[in-house]
Amino acid sequence: MLEQKVQIEFARLSDADEISRLSRDEVEYGLRWNYTAARITGIIRNKSKNAIVARLDGDLVGFGIMTYHQDQANLDLLAIKKEYRRNKVATELMLWLEKVALTAGVYNVFVQLRKTNRGAFKLYQSLGYQTLEKLPKYYGRIEDGILMVKSFRPMINTE
Ligand SMILES: CC(C)(COP(=O)(O)OP(=O)(O)OC[C@H]1O[C@@H](n2cnc3c(N)ncnc32)[C@H](O)[C@@H]1OP(=O)(O)O)[C@@H](O)C(=O)NCCC(=O)NCCS
Repeated sequence: MLEQKVQIEFARLSDADEISRLSRDEVEYGLRWNYTAARITGIIRNKSKNAIVARLDGDLVGFGIMTYHQDQANLDLLAIKKEYRRNKVATELMLWLEKVALTAGVYNVFVQLRKTNRGAFKLYQSLGYQTLEKLPKYYGRIEDGILMVKSFRPMINTE
């Protein structure tokens, strides 16, 4: 249990390097490194995306990135440093990103994860995401993925 509450705020350009290394080591391991510091810098500047970080005493402990479209949003990346896991930091980041989606009138939030990523699967399940489909060879054409979705609006009964 963390002694202090993490602070959640927008990522700064100076966070790009650390975010990209966390992505390489904790998300993209075994795959080609896509989310380089240059790409993360572009994402932080991109107004259709929110890149946020959780900090503790000024240190970055985790981050999340979501892209917002007209009526749906997609979680692009999420990672928490190993030593801070199971303290609901990812949950807080997700709820922050989801709140923006909900406020913007987005109905569905999608997440993709590696089929073998049990921890992330459990996290998304705990937040109300449901499995939509398998994504064959989604990761680097070598590993299957899973697509999950959380719907904020119940199906409208047209009868
Ligand atoms: C997956 C990840 C983001 C979870 O971050 P976290 O801050 O530890 O998650 P939380 O503390 O908010 O977890 C909330 C709940 O999700 C579930 N959960 C999270 N991680 C889990 C794990 N490794 N095993 C089982 N359940 C897990 C639990 O129900 C947990 O509640 P509990 O701790 O009270 O049991 C983190 O483990 C991580 O960075 N992993 C590597 C990168 C990654 O997989 N990113 C996501 C896919 S892109």
